[in-house]
Amino acid sequence: MTDTSFPYRMRLGLPYNYSVHFTRNAFRPDNELLARTLRAAPGAPHRALAFLDSGLAEAQPGLSDRLAGYCQAHSGTVELAAPPVVLPGGEQAKEGWGVVQRVLSELAAAGLCRHSFVLCAGGGALLDAVGLATALFHRGMRLVRMPSTALAQDDAGVGVKNGINLDGTKNAVGTFAPPFAVINDLALLRTLRRELVLDGIAEALKVALVRDGEFFRMLEQNAEALARADRDVVDQAVQRCAWLHLHHIASGGDPFERGSARPLDFGHWAGHRLEQLSGGALRHGQGVAVGMALDACYACRTGYLAPDELERVLGTLRRCGLPTQHELLADPDPVLVGLRQFQEHLGGPLTVTLPHGIGAKVEVHEMDRDILRACARHLMEHEERL
Ligand SMILES: NC(=O)c1ccc[n+]([C@@H]2O[C@H](COP(=O)([O-])OP(=O)(O)OC[C@H]3O[C@@H](n4cnc5c(N)ncnc54)[C@H](O)[C@@H]3O)[C@@H](O)[C@H]2O)c1
Ligand SMILES: [Zn+2]
Repeated sequence: MTDTSFPYRMRLGLPYNYSVHFTRNAFRPDNELLARTLRAAPGAPHRALAFLDSGLAEAQPGLSDRLAGYCQAHSGTVELAAPPVVLPGGEQAKEGWGVVQRVLSELAAAGLCRHSFVLCAGGGALLDAVGLATALFHRGMRLVRMPSTALAQDDAGVGVKNGINLDGTKNAVGTFAPPFAVINDLALLRTLRRELVLDGIAEALKVALVRDGEFFRMLEQNAEALARADRDVVDQAVQRCAWLHLHHIASGGDPFERGSARPLDFGHWAGHRLEQLSGGALRHGQGVAVGMALDACYACRTGYLAPDELERVLGTLRRCGLPTQHELLADPDPVLVGLRQFQEHLGGPLTVTLPHGIGAKVEVHEMDRDILRACARHLMEHEERL
């Protein structure tokens, strides 16, 4: 007889597959990548709605028409349910529920079903908000992300998370929702302001320092070219950084971050807090750069990084045009609150990743506040403001 007793041991295993591509000029009608990607789902032509970041749309005025033209040229594959919708880009996109609600209304008005596609081209902030809306509508529909900043292509846009900020807490609400696919169009980066390119480079330095010493040396040797936002070097750095992030998510054993560790979040506990304390004046990449300087200094004082290695880290950040100090470090105690916030967000015991030599990591579960204060003082005294 069938055992119908309780408890019933549920065991659900869901494989997630998505591919991340790099291309140039994705909306040129003869570029097959996007059409081929959409055709991977059965049932073409697929209905779709497209959302564009306002900063991107302004910097690349013909983009919306090119996207619509591409869909017309591939009408056997994709049908836009309405013209592309431009939404505010930048951090405002994910402050509260506004953009999420707007996207949900557009999806409902277009009568999209769970098998329809959402295409979103934009920076990490808009991708986060549209990703949340897409995860919620019909309990989750197909999202093709087209990240348009260096940081979105090498980090924010390639992973499995989305989110919005609520009541002053960064990423307070969000879901783990892998996309259908990610298409990184390097040509989109060409209109990015230099400082925004450098935000993506900060993430590249972060992952290189704790994962890939050879990549760090490449960045170190090309620091001046990176600071000028030289296309070739930036494109190389963005691709390698994206690969390292993807490899970590795919093979790190904890894609939905159930544990307490975030092995690639070196520099982020202080980085997030500095962003928050600066009231938005510091962008994510800048906050992370200062956070890395602080934690590298700490790693040196606690024996994980040799003094000459620390000098290479700080020197490379500086030569890349990234900040290694900030006036908020003059009063370190409010910054140190970031340790508790970081722990709360991840859950469980505090776990902070530090570099262990260049290219490897160590995880520590406590940080000595006095040493951190001394590191903050050291950076204020010895590092110059950008
Ligand atoms: N979901 C994740 O896993 C994850 C990971 C890391 C970071 N993030 C989030 O990503 C956000 C930062 O994203 P970001 O660095 O891409 O910045 P952003 O999205 O804030 O965009 C920065 C600015 O660039 C403009 N812009 C976008 N593309 C452009 C282009 N091609 N040309 C000219 N201007 C353009 C935008 O309109 C905006 O004004 C943060 O909110 C961060 O929390 C998310
Ligand atoms: Zn980051």
